[in-house]
Amino acid sequence: MTTLTTAYRPAQIWLHWITVFGVIFQIAFHDAIVAVIDARQAGQTPTDSDMTSAMVHVSVGSIILLAVIARLYLRWRYGAPGHAAGTSAAQAMVANIMHKALYGLLFAMVVTGMLTWNDIAPLGDVHSGLNMALFFAALAHGFAAIFNQFVRKDGTLARMMPMLRKG
Ligand code: HEM
Ligand code: HEM
Repeated sequence: MTTLTTAYRPAQIWLHWITVFGVIFQIAFHDAIVAVIDARQAGQTPTDSDMTSAMVHVSVGSIILLAVIARLYLRWRYGAPGHAAGTSAAQAMVANIMHKALYGLLFAMVVTGMLTWNDIAPLGDVHSGLNMALFFAALAHGFAAIFNQFVRKDGTLARMMPMLRKG
């Protein structure tokens, strides 16, 4: 991946955490949109309250899409910092693949969600399966950042959490 800089820009850091909280919100609040799709498939009218909560899922999902597009633009325009000192070629490769996979999964979640919501293709099961992949990939990614920061002490997490930076 491109390396033009020594640190993530504040906008890249904000957008990263907006995405993280957005994904946590989507995973926590999906019952209503599932109920709306179930009702539609059964030929019933969804309740107003489910419809409103479903719109929140769609809106937060759309914010995630905008955040991902903005992040990819910033990455293309300004690049991302090279890996921390002491990172082996194999570790760097795994991190690069993981970051690409996370971007890809976020996009795939939004696309499958939109196709299902707009009645273009019933991809709810794919959306649900991709969500599991995103969940475990993000968990592994978060653990790797914490491990590198506090065990290997290479400052990885501080890249996305400037308050951890020394000096
Ligand atoms: C990264 C963003 C997103 C995440 C993490 C997410 C997460 C989830 C989860 C966990 C479910 C429940 C799946 C299940 O039943 O096991 C769900 C359902 C659903 N989501 Fe999302 N979602 C995201 C974005 C979106 C977007 C942008 C839309 C539409 C514009 C959307 C539309 C839907 C629909 C229609 C369902 C119901 C699927 C069904 O029951 O067939 N989602 N979502
Ligand atoms: C839904 C959850 C998450 C997603 C989708 C996500 C996505 C990403 C992506 C795509 C990148 C690469 C940024 C780039 O170079 O353009 C990244 C970097 C990073 N993320 Fe996450 N992340 C998530 C959760 C977390 C969590 C929970 C932590 C910490 C506990 C974390 C810490 C970091 C750090 C430190 C970096 C910089 C890594 C480096 O430069 O080597 N992320 N994240």
